[in-house]
Amino acid sequence: MNLSNNTILLTGGATGIGLALAQRLRQAGSEVIVCGRRADRLREAQDQVPGLHVYACDLALANDRDELARRVQADFPALNVLINNAGIQNRVQLAQADTSPAGWERQRQEIIINVEAPIHLTTLLLPHLQQQPGAAIVNVTSGLAFAPAAFVPIYSATKAALHSFTLSLRHQLAPTGVQVLEIVPPAVNTDLGGPGLHTFGVPVEAFADAVLARLAAGEQEVGYESSEQIRLVGRAELDARFKQMNNR
Ligand SMILES: NC(=O)c1ccc[n+]([C@@H]2O[C@H](COP(=O)([O-])OP(=O)(O)OC[C@H]3O[C@@H](n4cnc5c(N)ncnc54)[C@H](OP(=O)(O)O)[C@@H]3O)[C@@H](O)[C@H]2O)c1
Repeated sequence: MNLSNNTILLTGGATGIGLALAQRLRQAGSEVIVCGRRADRLREAQDQVPGLHVYACDLALANDRDELARRVQADFPALNVLINNAGIQNRVQLAQADTSPAGWERQRQEIIINVEAPIHLTTLLLPHLQQQPGAAIVNVTSGLAFAPAAFVPIYSATKAALHSFTLSLRHQLAPTGVQVLEIVPPAVNTDLGGPGLHTFGVPVEAFADAVLARLAAGEQEVGYESSEQIRLVGRAELDARFKQMNNR
């Protein structure tokens, strides 16, 4: 993937991994449009990244996704890259889960934001992307797509689903010229799941530098450190990693 001269819609690009990618893609000479729910974080991102374009939207809402796709295509007709990066992570003890409708709705949000939204946005933008030179769709999954962390069971399942979808999408789009790429992060030091929960993760700057360099060099699926290992292993190692990660 060429990092310059693109027009990129990057979901969840006001913080964490998305912001680090946005900074680098902007520096490389691409137009970058980011979206998120928190207006204050979007403003702060604009202060940090000169020329960044922002839209406030809630990707959990199908209407917001429709409106975002419509506005971005109208405002940026050269749009040629979609990066599905927005995501949430919840710690869930399934045996003690809140069985009320409100409790289920909270759990369902993770499935909607992490799986439904990127699939829907991809579907909405594909007719446009197929007409564009250098088009690409980049999905941000997780090392947990390959071996789940049991304390985030729904999250891990959503990332496995997005990884699976990415493989099918790449196969289907091969004749169209739209590249389908995947970034597989390990634990990265961001506010994912809440401030302070990922301080054990790798630094976001080094991670972003490394994965973008590899995408620029032509790789389709890139991990970093532990997620680079896990995305390439066989079943016996996956089971061993599951036991190690979940202390059994
Ligand atoms: N950090 C890690 O350890 C790690 C590991 C593997 C994979 N990942 C993946 O990397 C991606 C980025 O996460 P991060 O670590 O950078 O955490 P983050 O800083 O919390 O970023 C997530 C972004 O998604 C946005 N977002 C969440 N729900 C949204 C919604 N309904 N509508 C619009 N935007 C929404 C958030 O903005 P608002 O809250 O303002 O909407 C935020 O900017 C996620 O897909 C995550 O699963 C992270």
